[in-house]
Amino acid sequence: MENLKNKTAVITGGNSGIGYATAKQLKEQGANVIITGRRKEAIEKAALELGVTAITADQSNISDIEKLATQVKADFGSVDILFINAGIAGLGTIEQTTEELYDNIMNVNLKGAFFTLSKFIPILKDGASVVFLSSNTASMPGPGSSVYSASKTALNSFMRSAALELAPRKIRVNSVSPGPTQTEVMNKVGLDETTVKGIMDVVVEKVPLKQMGRAEDVAKMVSYLSSDAGVFMTGADVIMDGGMSLG
Ligand SMILES: NC(=O)c1ccc[n+]([C@@H]2O[C@H](COP(=O)([O-])OP(=O)(O)OC[C@H]3O[C@@H](n4cnc5c(N)ncnc54)[C@H](OP(=O)(O)O)[C@@H]3O)[C@@H](O)[C@H]2O)c1
Repeated sequence: MENLKNKTAVITGGNSGIGYATAKQLKEQGANVIITGRRKEAIEKAALELGVTAITADQSNISDIEKLATQVKADFGSVDILFINAGIAGLGTIEQTTEELYDNIMNVNLKGAFFTLSKFIPILKDGASVVFLSSNTASMPGPGSSVYSASKTALNSFMRSAALELAPRKIRVNSVSPGPTQTEVMNKVGLDETTVKGIMDVVVEKVPLKQMGRAEDVAKMVSYLSSDAGVFMTGADVIMDGGMSLG
């Protein structure tokens, strides 16, 4: 296991799923971890369980992002690992998609992710690691997820531009693209439990390894990319989807 002793790591969206598992992993490796989320109670509960710092901040709100960066600078000075993980799912055909749904998804997954990186650049240490949480749907869009897929495709494009812009400071920027992974994300799209289970059963059939991914495995990849092991990796998108995107 990689040693991240005394590294400062900021994880957006750390109160459940992949962000929570990554906070646990990085903390176990010795990092000082800060997690964010919109719901104050949920984020403080998670931080207490994990022994990490909680800061309430909405990734879709630029002023929240600025306040977050200011507070992290005041309390920790600089950042070694920035994991821009917060994101929401949203389902609907192009015909059904409202402007509100479109804006909600894009504002969190794309605009918010972009400005999180932008506002943290001044406090990233030279040699820092930035990881965006993308999705395998960035490269294999399906019906009913056009806006979500587009948000992640564009995120990968930002990731590659950022890798080039930040290379002179030896800051590495990569993304991880999971396939279907067991977390809370699908329970939040407004469908009942049986429908969600039905969708997931259909999705798993399309995964050659015939299983869902685990948040812990994504956490290990983020840890790998952020450690010395990933020192020559930048501008890479690591797909972790049990072979699903092979077609
Ligand atoms: N699970 C999958 O199958 C899968 C597959 C591919 C990619 N992903 C991506 O993985 C990332 C994490 O998702 P997950 O599956 O771990 O889902 P999750 O369990 O729902 O966790 C999402 C986290 O993001 C936070 N969040 C949501 N909107 C936010 C906002 N506006 N500002 C700050 N925090 C926000 C949530 O906390 P609050 O609700 O308190 O804000 C929560 O901590 C997302 O980017 C998602 O698109 C997931």
